[in-house]
Formats: sequence, C-alpha cells, structure tokens
Amino acid sequence: MAIQISPSILSADFARLADEAAVVASSADWLHVDVMDNHFVPNLTLGLPVVESLRKAAAVPLDCHLMIEDPDRWAPDYAEVGAGSVTIHAEAAKSPIRTLRTIRSAGARAGLALNPATSVDVYADLLAEVDMLLVMTVEPGFGGQPFLDLMLPKIRRARELISTRDTDVWLQVDGGVSDETIERCAEAGADVFVAGSAVYKSADPAAAVDALRAQAQR
Ligand code: DX5
Ligand code: ZN
Repeated sequence: MAIQISPSILSADFARLADEAAVVASSADWLHVDVMDNHFVPNLTLGLPVVESLRKAAAVPLDCHLMIEDPDRWAPDYAEVGAGSVTIHAEAAKSPIRTLRTIRSAGARAGLALNPATSVDVYADLLAEVDMLLVMTVEPGFGGQPFLDLMLPKIRRARELISTRDTDVWLQVDGGVSDETIERCAEAGADVFVAGSAVYKSADPAAAVDALRAQAQR
C-alpha cells in the first residue's frame, strides 16, 4: 500500500496560490483543493476558474474535494478542466453513480466523501464505481480543526470493505491529520493523507510533507 500525501491549499495564502503549490511540488503526490459553496458547508473558498488556472500553474496533480450542494451539476466540469481527481460528497449527490461515472469518463479519478456522521456500510455497493473513498475526520468546512478519533473504526471498516473487492480503491482521510494523528490513520488502513495546517502553517512545508510520509510509513 503506497502512502500518498495531499497537502490542502486551504491553509495556504490564497493571493499566492501558484507559489504555494510550487512549494510542495517536489514532495507531495497531489495538491488538495477544497471547493466550498457556503451551502453544503458554512464557508466559501474558490471555484472552477481558479481550479482551471491552478491546474495550468501547478506541477502536481489537483485533488479536488467538492463540498458543494450540487456536485452532480459541477463535478464533471472539474474533471474537464483537468483535475486529476474529483471527490463528491455522498450526502450531497443525488445521482452519485452517474456523477462518478461521468468524472471517470472525463479522465479523472472519481472520489466519494463521507461526512463523520455518514455510515460507510450504506455505500459499500458503490465502491465498484469509485477510485478513492474519503473518510472525513472532521466536520467539513474549515482547516485547523482537531482530529476526530471516533472516526478510526470507520477507517478500519472502510479498509475491510475495500479489501473484499478486486478493485483497488484508495482510502483518503481529511481533517486534523498531523504528525500526532497520521500514524493512527495509517494503522487503521488509510493510504492517502490530506494535511492543510500541518503542512502550510509549518515553517518548511516541503519538509512537513516528507515528515508526514515518513510517519505514515512507520
Ligand atoms: C476541511 C477540508 C480540509 C482541510 C483540512 O473541510 O476538507 O481539506 O483543509 O485542514 P487541516 O489539515 O488543517 O485539518
Ligand atoms: Zn478537503
């Protein structure tokens, strides 16, 4: 199981997005881009035009996490502008299977995200349609929140469900991932780690990515 690190640009300086992407380009596998619409979550960030420009400016592929009310309408567009991965929330999608298939056919990896209160078992049948399952380890909406330890059994359960299938589904965690919590997530079975404040609030973001990877591999 290869470990991947996806620094979240949410904790970066939004006036210097291209530079902030470049800072982690040599150490990160992905750049996590949090799209929030102030409806699905109580916060507003950025949308399609910014992702399109960032995609051209960034050397690292974009991992777009859509915290928006109507992912069925918007997710395909993010794949079309060249995001490497597009993740929709199970709680927001009205036609998740169709939307996940559209993301894949546009050439991106298709992700399905689950809020802390959403059971993974309910979505077990959808695993055939996804390239990545995202278990949120905070309530979505803001960076810098404390990791929810009570999500560890869900990460374990997700890994169990994935391992019973032939298809290789990546298991991502997002929220409160730091040098304090990443080992617990890895031990529970996560293999893709989003980290916002742990990377961008550090004095040396590239070194922070390396340190997180080393800790997840222990
Ligand atoms: C929160 C976002 C996260 C956020 C994580 O809703 O989905 O990607 O940037 O930030 P940290 O790592 O600081 O919890
Ligand atoms: Zn996110």
